[in-house]
Amino acid sequence: MKKILRYIAILFSVLLVLLLGLVGYLVFFLPDTPPLEDIKVEVTPERVERGKYLANHVMLCVDCHSKRDWGKFSAPLVGGTEGEGGEVFNQKMGFPGTFYATNITPSGIGNWSDAEIFRAITSGISKDGRALFPLMPYKNFGQLEREDIYDIIAYLRTLESKDGSYPEPDFDFPMNLIINTLPTKPDFRLKKNENRNEYFTVAAGCFDCHTKQESGEFTGAPFAGGMEFKQEDGSIIRSVNITFDKETGIGNWTKKDFIDRFKHFEPDASKNIKVNHGELQTIMPWTMYAGMTDEDLGAIYDYLKTIPAVRNKVEPFTSAPD
Ligand code: HEC
Ligand code: HEC
Repeated sequence: MKKILRYIAILFSVLLVLLLGLVGYLVFFLPDTPPLEDIKVEVTPERVERGKYLANHVMLCVDCHSKRDWGKFSAPLVGGTEGEGGEVFNQKMGFPGTFYATNITPSGIGNWSDAEIFRAITSGISKDGRALFPLMPYKNFGQLEREDIYDIIAYLRTLESKDGSYPEPDFDFPMNLIINTLPTKPDFRLKKNENRNEYFTVAAGCFDCHTKQESGEFTGAPFAGGMEFKQEDGSIIRSVNITFDKETGIGNWTKKDFIDRFKHFEPDASKNIKVNHGELQTIMPWTMYAGMTDEDLGAIYDYLKTIPAVRNKVEPFTSAPD
């Protein structure tokens, strides 16, 4: 009997040491921070122009990192808040903690080197070495061409400085440990002249919203919808099926239908429809994507057409209980 107890005691001590080792590893050795590269981005008008397009209409940096008006359909940007951050993400919305979109104007990241901004965008590591929550789509951005990221950095340098500093993120256990395992090395795998269609789909992050996730894992068929976005008021928005299934997806849409659907929300076209409590709201940033060129939207259409069509009917909205 004594012997057995002793074995159990030894077993527990071994487990405890292993556990402490694991926690120590997660806290002190991760994230695996890639060394800063030797990068100097020249702020030329061409770069700023292209970066502005990508940041506002394709990669949507400015959508997430600005204030949005949730009283209007699709929550368009509040003019004059470009880059100042402040949108909050919390447990009520199903996130494992409370964190904020940060200030990416010069008052926020003006003292970061180009290499530090590049690393944050493509590897998910902040200036101080902290791992960023992957809502910041660094895994997508790390698949793109470096030149496009440089253009965005050039554009960010030209933004007007805005006030805006927010509390440090506060992640719940175990996300506060797991988060350190998430950053991965960028592979810059996509090339516009080889896989243009996939390139723009990845840059615009369509997969991430239109594929069902549970506890941070993608569990649904790609692009078949069903991802739930809980809103603070208790309503639920769901992404819909954008595979080419004829009944439950977009299988009957022509390329023109697809492009027109976006262009309908072209900025300033008075499509800022007011949304009252209990009425259909969406998280799909239509008004920002509307500024994408026909060519780039068309590339996304062509890519979606190659995805296996899946039958999956999704109800996009459940209103809040009264
Ligand atoms: C879907 C929303 C979303 C999009 C799109 C997005 N970000 Fe972020 N970003 C965030 C959030 C949220 C954080 C904070 C994460 C955290 O604190 O862990 C963040 C953090 C950052 C940081 C780190 C700032 C700091 O102070 O640590 C930088 C830099 C950044 N984003 C730049 C960009 C750029 C540039 C783009 C476009 C290429 C972009 N983001 C697109 C949501 C987004
Ligand atoms: C932030 C999450 C989010 C992102 C990013 C996103 N969507 Fe959506 N999308 C939604 C939601 C939610 C809906 C359902 C409500 C609505 O129609 O707005 C939707 C609806 C749609 C519809 C309408 C389908 C129909 O049957 O009416 C299309 C088409 C679409 N998305 C395509 C795209 C494409 C293409 C991209 C990438 C460029 C994209 N979405 C990115 C959340 C998102």
